[in-house]
Amino acid sequence: MKTAVIIVAAGKGVRFGSEVPKQFLLLKGMFVLSYSLKIFLAHQAIHSIQPVINDKHSKFYEDTLGSIKNFRKSKKILSPTFGGDERSLSVKSGLFALAKLKEPPDQVLIHDAARPLVSKKVIDRVLQNLSNYDAVFPVLPMVDTVWKIEKSRYELMRDRDSLFRAQTPQGFKFPVILEAHQKNTNYLAFDDISLATKLGVSIKHVEGCETNLKITTLQDLKRAESLIE
Ligand code: CTP
Ligand code: MG
Repeated sequence: MKTAVIIVAAGKGVRFGSEVPKQFLLLKGMFVLSYSLKIFLAHQAIHSIQPVINDKHSKFYEDTLGSIKNFRKSKKILSPTFGGDERSLSVKSGLFALAKLKEPPDQVLIHDAARPLVSKKVIDRVLQNLSNYDAVFPVLPMVDTVWKIEKSRYELMRDRDSLFRAQTPQGFKFPVILEAHQKNTNYLAFDDISLATKLGVSIKHVEGCETNLKITTLQDLKRAESLIE
């Protein structure tokens, strides 16, 4: 059973708004992308890592690879493939690169480079359930009251207990997610699970982790810094 991980790192970080894209910023002395490269590199069950980057970020990526000795030495980290304008196009690029390998993986995790603090526990929870399901993803409950606000219309979401926040890595049987992306024409698809739901495959949610936050703004980067401390 071969397992690969696609790390999507091709975004521009518009909401963060820094000159250097957020996945290549330093977080406690290490590039944000290095954190996920490092944890998946150390994980025994992961056979290959497929980074997806923006073609304009090649220099940043080279700096990241050069920043940690094991990165360039490891055969596990495949050469990066270039992403697209939407996240789903970047995922697709990663999937197609893996499909072209002599030995494509049997299952794949898809992870945001913008989530540097993913834990082995969450990765393992996804992997364990992937033997019984086609798609698995980590979620967290909504703790606050949730409101839908459109212009001046306010609607309370009364079913808070059935609303969850999705995280990555999201895990899939490789042929399932490949097919989902091949069939997809809506490139604004929010995440990969949302594509899988359209195929009617078996899906399981597992518990995510509060520290597995996604860096969207400077505030999130600061929070990640304090979590590392
Ligand atoms: N991503 C990607 N290709 C894209 C868009 C996003 O690979 N075209 C990646 C990002 O690099 C990130 C992850 O998907 O690791 C989650 O996306 P998000 O947090 O939205 O990052 P950005 O799209 O870069 O940020 P923004 O939406 O603020 O521009
Ligand atoms: Mg985005």
